[in-house]
Amino acid sequence: MNKTLLKLKAEEVENALEPGAPGWVAPMSDREFNFLRRVVKRHTGIALADYKRNMLYRRISKRMRALNMDEVKPYCELLSGPKAAGEIPLFINVVTTNKTSFFREAHHFDHLARIALPTFIDEAANRGSRRLRIWSAGCSSGEEPYSIAMILQDSLKGLGQWDAKILATDIDTNMVESGQQGLFPADAMKPVPAPLRGRYAAPNSGDKSQVRMATSIRSSIVFKPLNLLEAWPMNGPFDSIFCRNVVIYFDKPTQRILFDRYADIMRMGSVLYIGHSESLYGITERFRAVGQSIYQKIA
Ligand SMILES: C[S@@+](CC[C@H](N)C(=O)[O-])C[C@H]1O[C@@H](n2cnc3c(N)ncnc32)[C@H](O)[C@@H]1O
Repeated sequence: MNKTLLKLKAEEVENALEPGAPGWVAPMSDREFNFLRRVVKRHTGIALADYKRNMLYRRISKRMRALNMDEVKPYCELLSGPKAAGEIPLFINVVTTNKTSFFREAHHFDHLARIALPTFIDEAANRGSRRLRIWSAGCSSGEEPYSIAMILQDSLKGLGQWDAKILATDIDTNMVESGQQGLFPADAMKPVPAPLRGRYAAPNSGDKSQVRMATSIRSSIVFKPLNLLEAWPMNGPFDSIFCRNVVIYFDKPTQRILFDRYADIMRMGSVLYIGHSESLYGITERFRAVGQSIYQKIA
């Protein structure tokens, strides 16, 4: 490999193959890019900016290699032809960005443990109820709902039997499957506070480089594939929703509709956590800010 190629990142190297070499994919035209981003927008709400062009090309190239296609045009035809329904979910799986980690934006989990959960527990007791529902919407591979589950289990310790459940949903079916397994690389557990790690995760007997989440934690989470833009099968009411780093690529009208739907399905006084670069300012007045990217439902 020559010096110039050595400087390229791995994925750029793949696309720097000689035309006709195995795995080579012809460049994507403007027309193809615009078609593909319309499909992404229609099915996920994600509005891909011009600068995402290379990222989209890299990601679909992977899928096209699996289909033995070396031109983007037939792939576009597949997405608009009679077999589209079978391909769209696989297309979505390659185009979504799934970056996540345990206890990401740790102040949210601190707020959940110290302020939100004690309030929810008191309020439930006042209603004569022992039901708690939290939704991780756009949960990726599960680090977010497992972080919530560890906090929830710790907060309910010694309080007797509670009907406490976390719903974890994502449009990406690979992520939902991965989350369901409850297996993570041992390294991924570093941000988890040591006492929680000790109580709720153990080395996987089959592969010591992995940890397995405790059964009590796994059974408190229900993983389901769900597109946030489509109909929701659940009624709530939710005590809290985590929707973090999901709407960042949605346009404002799509965000407005989504946050309105969240408000409809949340209990009055319940708490919504959003990503650090997201905001409800100018989007909805049904929540008030109570902390950094933390909102309470007020209407
Ligand atoms: C960057 S990850 C964020 C994961 C986690 N919430 C966090 O903050 O660490 C965004 C997730 O949103 C999901 N997503 C994107 N559009 C979606 C949609 N329309 N419906 C449901 N999930 C969606 C993606 O598949 C991805 O897993």
